[in-house]
Amino acid sequence: MINNQFRNGMPCLRKIQRTGFLALVLFVSACQQDPVIRERDVDLPACATPYTLQLPDFFPPLPPTPGNPLTVEGIELGRRLFYEPLLSGDNTQSCASCHQQNASFVDGNKRLSIGIDGLPGFRNSMPLYNLAWAEKYFWDGNARSLEELALIPIEAEFEMHENLFRAVRELQEHPEYPGLFYRAFCDSTVNVERMAQAMAQFLRTILATSLKLAPGSVGIQSRSPQEERGYRVFLDETKGDCFHCHVVNAFNTNFEFINNGLNPDPTADPGLYGQTGDPNDLGKFKVPSLLNLKYTAPFMHDGRFSSLDEVLAFYDTGFHYSSTLDPNLVKHMDANRKPVPRKWTAQDKEDLKAFILSLEDDRILSNPAFSKP
Ligand code: HEC
Ligand code: HEC
Repeated sequence: MINNQFRNGMPCLRKIQRTGFLALVLFVSACQQDPVIRERDVDLPACATPYTLQLPDFFPPLPPTPGNPLTVEGIELGRRLFYEPLLSGDNTQSCASCHQQNASFVDGNKRLSIGIDGLPGFRNSMPLYNLAWAEKYFWDGNARSLEELALIPIEAEFEMHENLFRAVRELQEHPEYPGLFYRAFCDSTVNVERMAQAMAQFLRTILATSLKLAPGSVGIQSRSPQEERGYRVFLDETKGDCFHCHVVNAFNTNFEFINNGLNPDPTADPGLYGQTGDPNDLGKFKVPSLLNLKYTAPFMHDGRFSSLDEVLAFYDTGFHYSSTLDPNLVKHMDANRKPVPRKWTAQDKEDLKAFILSLEDDRILSNPAFSKP
């Protein structure tokens, strides 16, 4: 699965089923000439070079992306587009304006992101890594694929506020882009589908993980005594009890949408409900990983907390009951649905913070593969 660009043997048959008679003749002869012939992915543009993403050994396989396999040229084009201000209405803003590599791909310490017209959006910027494994994107799950997502910020009024067709024209008239599109898709025509595909490919290559969270894996880093104590608080169901949602795995999240009790009235900011219309989804937002938090304050979908101390105070006594509040928080409430203070000491909280802040992956901050080309 990790290397799904080339297959051999059996897949000849699978491909024949998908391609019809003429192809059947061609492929049967190809298969006969060389029974172990390495076959290109059906979706791979004929001119592009397949790219195998190297995963840390404890990552699950990369989910397949039918219709848009990773290629060297596609990723390269996606990176160019990610840093391209021509994609904004006044040519001043690129994706990277709000997703800065040296800030773990968020926008510095802004509470809400600001678009080209100086208008704030409704959300705190999200860090960009391990995106290939998520099934829904944005804090409220408003996009179901990275291909779908990539075009949304370009048109959003409070973000890049550009007309997509104008952006296509600008790229088509650019001295370099038609050639880059040709390299990636064997066709120099710029269109929104190809723009989205290339950006999605680039986004899928950004990986981050904390070696302090992957027990038993090769290369695990040891925790300091304080971080180890903090890890115990993180797991302790009478203290932090954080691990149900910010899971101890390579991603440090279960990628689920959950109501963690930020608002007493979840209809005020309905979250996932806005996409599904299901009342059980009211107030549910994407569980973020706690990686690189040193760079990504303020916290939560609306950036309401500026420090980890505020976050811990919230999980101690600040969260609110509502019908969709997650059971793992309801259990920390009394009969009157008020939070019962955690049994953590001041030292426990310091240790917990030290552990959380040790979950970092500095490499993505400077990896030249993700920086401005
Ligand atoms: C004006 C700032 C801004 C710009 C420009 C911007 N983004 Fe974002 N991005 C955000 C904010 C804010 C969110 C969270 C939005 C939400 O949840 O509704 C976000 C969320 C995302 C996510 C979702 C991550 C996840 O874990 O679900 C991806 C992916 C992303 N942006 C990629 C891009 C790409 C690609 C571009 C350029 C085409 C771009 N962004 C341009 C601010 C921005
Ligand atoms: C029941 C699930 C759940 C539990 C338990 C939980 N969280 Fe969260 N956490 C979430 C969700 C969901 C969000 C995003 C909420 C939002 O912004 O709407 C979140 C957000 C956060 C953030 C903000 C991260 C960011 O990038 O903005 C931090 C920090 C955090 N949690 C730390 C903790 C700590 C520490 C604990 C344990 C004391 C904990 N969480 C327990 C579900 C949970």
